Amino acid sequence: MDKLRIAVVGAGLIGQRHIEMIKASRLCVLSAIVDPSTGAVAYAKMQGVPIYTSLDALFEHTKPAGVILATPNQMHVEQGMACIAAGVPALVEKPVAHSLEAGLALQAATEASGVKMMVGHHRQHGSVMAKAVEVIQSGALGRVVAIVGTMLIYKAETEGYFDGAYTWRREPGAGPVMINMIHEIGNLRALAGDITEVHAFASNGTRGFAVEDTAVMNFRFASGALGTFALSDTAATDRNWEHTSGEDVFRYAKAHTESDDCYLVSGTWGTLAVPTMRLQRYLKDEDRSWHKALQKSQIKPDVINPLAAQIEHFCDVIRGTCEPRVTVRDGVQNLRVVDAILQSARTGQSVKIAG
Ligand SMILES: NC(=O)c1ccc[n+]([C@@H]2O[C@H](COP(=O)([O-])OP(=O)(O)OC[C@H]3O[C@@H](n4cnc5c(N)ncnc54)[C@H](O)[C@@H]3O)[C@@H](O)[C@H]2O)c1
Repeated sequence: MDKLRIAVVGAGLIGQRHIEMIKASRLCVLSAIVDPSTGAVAYAKMQGVPIYTSLDALFEHTKPAGVILATPNQMHVEQGMACIAAGVPALVEKPVAHSLEAGLALQAATEASGVKMMVGHHRQHGSVMAKAVEVIQSGALGRVVAIVGTMLIYKAETEGYFDGAYTWRREPGAGPVMINMIHEIGNLRALAGDITEVHAFASNGTRGFAVEDTAVMNFRFASGALGTFALSDTAATDRNWEHTSGEDVFRYAKAHTESDDCYLVSGTWGTLAVPTMRLQRYLKDEDRSWHKALQKSQIKPDVINPLAAQIEHFCDVIRGTCEPRVTVRDGVQNLRVVDAILQSARTGQSVKIAG
């Protein structure tokens, strides 16, 4: 089978990781890079592929089998629309859009066109989330009643992450709720179903950017379960998915230790700590008492690289052998929750979320 030709739009932090995954894949090859920055010229030369300064210029020259949109959030919808107009399947990085309104426009255009489009919530392609979902769906926890989670991480201001070409990360449409919490929302919805109401506090008191650096959030799920979550990109700890899951997509310092978790999913029969997958539960109804010992076990899966699995899935989607696991509609539903978080933080009111 011929390898699919994939172009990457935006050769920055995540774009370069996608390029590594494409180059390692049996199913596809890198066909071109689209990036207007001067640094990208040398990078494309190193990769041995042509470079274009805009998506329009790429499409004027050639139509690849698929494109990956790894550009700043504020460009996703405009570029997604260009892919639809060109009839080229796309993997759009998360968040699917910089605003709910823009996301809904992309959802409508995608569904009307039939052009294949998926959203880069890559954790949904990993073995850690798959195992956690399997345990919960097996009924081992009984009815899920509460989830506690953290996305606490320290992004250094001294490493250029917020400066120069990257100041978009300080602006509305970005910020850790949009950039990071959206991944957590994808996970929370996979673990416990749809979120119907949010109450949040946010603060920019440490960095002083236009966007928050810290937020705390309470969630109500459609199932009746409740959740609480702390997020900060200026908190010095490894209590976050990137450091604890072992997926190590961004090759952070190997801070992973076998004993750290970032989620606790608790039900009427048992509790699962994620990602260590330590499970404690009652085995018999007559043992279900706070006076009785819980049975303990651990069911950790082999960790795979979810970005690599996502690329393989994208190739299958392009070939038409499966439907996107994370559709634009899913991405928009995650965005709805994030939008509600920001609205609640702004107004001080709880916000209900439409389905
Ligand atoms: N899946 C993940 O875990 C993950 C991780 C990081 C970032 N992201 C998402 O990926 C996107 C990019 O984030 P990043 O951190 O890699 O950003 P980045 O700033 O490091 O890279 C963005 C790249 O896009 C290029 N660019 C700017 N305008 C462009 C245009 N009009 N056409 C083509 N290229 C253009 C920039 O020159 C830069 O190289 C964001 O939406 C972000 O939320 C996802």
